[in-house]
Amino acid sequence: MAKRRKLVVANWKMNGRLTSGLNLAKDLVDRAAEQKPLSFDVVLCPPFTLLWPIGETLMGSPLLLGGQDCHIANHGAYTGNISAGMLADLGCRYVILGHSERRAQHGETSDLIARKVTAAQLAGLVTIVCVGETMEQRASGTTDLVIAEQVTSSLPDTVQASQLVLAYEPVWAIGAGETPSIDDIRHVNKIIRRSLGAMGEVVPVLYGGSVAPNNAGPILEEPEVDGVLVGAASLNSDGFWAIAEKCR
Ligand code: PGA
Repeated sequence: MAKRRKLVVANWKMNGRLTSGLNLAKDLVDRAAEQKPLSFDVVLCPPFTLLWPIGETLMGSPLLLGGQDCHIANHGAYTGNISAGMLADLGCRYVILGHSERRAQHGETSDLIARKVTAAQLAGLVTIVCVGETMEQRASGTTDLVIAEQVTSSLPDTVQASQLVLAYEPVWAIGAGETPSIDDIRHVNKIIRRSLGAMGEVVPVLYGGSVAPNNAGPILEEPEVDGVLVGAASLNSDGFWAIAEKCR
């Protein structure tokens, strides 16, 4: 398997105000400038409210911008929603879709997520599609089945491999300070690749869930892991950059 360039994604979730968000982004731009050229890719996914100012801050730097969700439609009477075209318009190159918090808190089904993938890819975005088992599913030994089912049903038939990234995010590990063993991560990432069929050779598969400076090294050294999706630890520039640097 060819070695893929690692990808480190910051998912700020519903965190960050104008001043704190801009300071964080500026710090990261400075860090990236210290080590040109970057040997890995970094994507910042701030809340919608900060996309414009942070996009301006990232301009001219190697850091890329991403959204945390998008709607299935391109425009229309959808109060409170944001379309993939709007994200692209603001300079986003990526969008996270199907995060377990969207699935659980907003009732998002894999079918809906597949439609979002279609919309986002049509708008030219790279879609980071999240899958992961709950603690109950893990305990009942159904992880492999759950993951395979989520992968196949969260992707449309028309999915473009060149605009696709998968992220294994065990629900029980997110925000919990706990991660699966490297063996478990390797095993599930292989299941994801297998479920992707021929695309599995080229699509990056990340890991996410309580990634922190003290555990990122072995995770990022694992050949089956093409990068990480970082939540809480991405809100601190020192911590986030310490994780990103483990890609080297
Ligand atoms: P966490 O979140 O790093 O805070 O566990 C990861 C995620 O939800 O993407």
